[in-house]
Amino acid sequence: MPEEKINVVGINVLKQNGANVDEIVKGLMSNASVEFTAYYYFTNLRAHCTGLEGEGIKGVIEDARLEDLSHFESCIQRIYELGGSLPNDAMEFVRMSGCEFLQLPSPTTNLPEILKKCLVAEQGAIVNWNKMCNLTMGKDPATYDIAKDILKEEIEHESWFLELLYGRPSGHMRRKFAGERPHTRKHSRALDVS
Ligand SMILES: [Fe+2]
Ligand SMILES: [Fe+2]
Repeated sequence: MPEEKINVVGINVLKQNGANVDEIVKGLMSNASVEFTAYYYFTNLRAHCTGLEGEGIKGVIEDARLEDLSHFESCIQRIYELGGSLPNDAMEFVRMSGCEFLQLPSPTTNLPEILKKCLVAEQGAIVNWNKMCNLTMGKDPATYDIAKDILKEEIEHESWFLELLYGRPSGHMRRKFAGERPHTRKHSRALDVS
């Protein structure tokens, strides 16, 4: 049955609220591609944090990396609820992110350069999720709930990398355990093992 013939009240009410559902779905898909691709690049960047100093940084990048996976997962159900879908071609999905800048620096184990790449990724994510908050605020409470929770984690990630690079205190850094995702856990329950 074609989508337009199905009465989806969960979408109709958003339009009555004045929400731009097409823009929201487009934004969710592009943000999901950024999170997915950042998760990949953070995996590679983390592997190149070598030496005594690199060992501590590995832990922080691991916390941010696993939360990016949580951010990707947090988008999926909402994309389908709103009538969207992921591209069939994984390459097309990765290309949507524009994350090529997260490739390894030269030399590949240059820690300050790795940290700068992490910082720029977090700052881009803040802009993306803040935009999604503005698109949905007061009009699409379900998407807003996801966007504001991801935004809070991105702000925390930015503060970690600012502290590591410039000594600007973050207030608090490490999670209790990797993958804790204190704000997005409820949106990405598929990642829970227990
Ligand atoms: Fe993220
Ligand atoms: Fe992040």
